[in-house]
Amino acid sequence: SNALRPLIAGNWKMNGTGAALSEVTKLRNHLSGADLADVDILIAPPATLVERFFQAVKGTAIAVGGQDCHASEQGAHTGDVSAQMLADAGATYVIVGHSERRSDYSETDSQVKAKAMAALRAGLTPIVCVGETEAERETGRANQVVSEQLAGSLPETESPDRVVVAYEPVWAIGTGKTPTLADIAAMHTHIRSKLTKRYGAAGPTPRILYGGSVKPANAGEILAIENVDGALVGGASLLADDFFGIISAA
Ligand code: G3P
Repeated sequence: SNALRPLIAGNWKMNGTGAALSEVTKLRNHLSGADLADVDILIAPPATLVERFFQAVKGTAIAVGGQDCHASEQGAHTGDVSAQMLADAGATYVIVGHSERRSDYSETDSQVKAKAMAALRAGLTPIVCVGETEAERETGRANQVVSEQLAGSLPETESPDRVVVAYEPVWAIGTGKTPTLADIAAMHTHIRSKLTKRYGAAGPTPRILYGGSVKPANAGEILAIENVDGALVGGASLLADDFFGIISAA
C-alpha cells in the first residue's frame, strides 16, 4: 500500500526533437478521459524541449522537468544549464545524479548534493538518483552503496517532501532485467529508514521511486510494493501508449 501520492516520471534521456511533441499530444488525449486524482505525472525531455513541452502540457496534469542542472545560478560554464533556467522554461522538477551522469561525467555524491540544493533554491523538486552496480549487488554491498550515496547526495532541507529519491539499480537500466519484487521491497524499506533518520520521522517524507526496465507489463506489481511511491521510466516513457499504460497501473 502506498501512503504517498505516486509520481510516474518519464526520463527521455538524449532522445527527442520537435517531432516528438506528437507523443505529448497523444498522451494528453489518453489522459483527458482518465481519472488522475491519485497520481502525479512528469516528463523530463532533453533541455532543448523543456519550453515546448511546457507549452504543450499547459492546463493538464503533466509536469515537465530537466534531466540535470548545474550547481551554480549562472556564469562561465559553457554547455551547462542552471536550475533557474529550467524553472524559467517551465520545469518544476529536475533529475540529479542519474547513474548515466555519474558514469559519463564522474559526478560525485557531493556534486549531486550541490545540484539538488541548487534545484531547491530555484523552486524545483530534485529527483536524486541512487543505485548499485551489478558487481556491487553480487558482492552483497548494495545496501551499503545506496546508504553512502544517500548520505552524500541528499540535500539539506526543511521541506523533505520537496525531495524525491529514485532507486535505479544500474544493471536494471535499459536491460529488461529487474530485481525481484522482494529485492525491490527490501531496498525501498532500507531507503525509507535512511530517509527517516536523515529528515525525521514526524512530518512529510520524500517519495521513493523505482527505476530500471519499468514497462506496462510489470508496473502494476512494482507499484504495489510498500515504500514504492512511483516510477522513473526511461525507454517506456518515449511512446505515449507505453507511458499511459504505466500511469494507468499506478
Ligand atoms: O531514469 C530512468 C532510467 O534510467 C530507466 O531506464 O529504459 O530501463 O526504463 P529504462
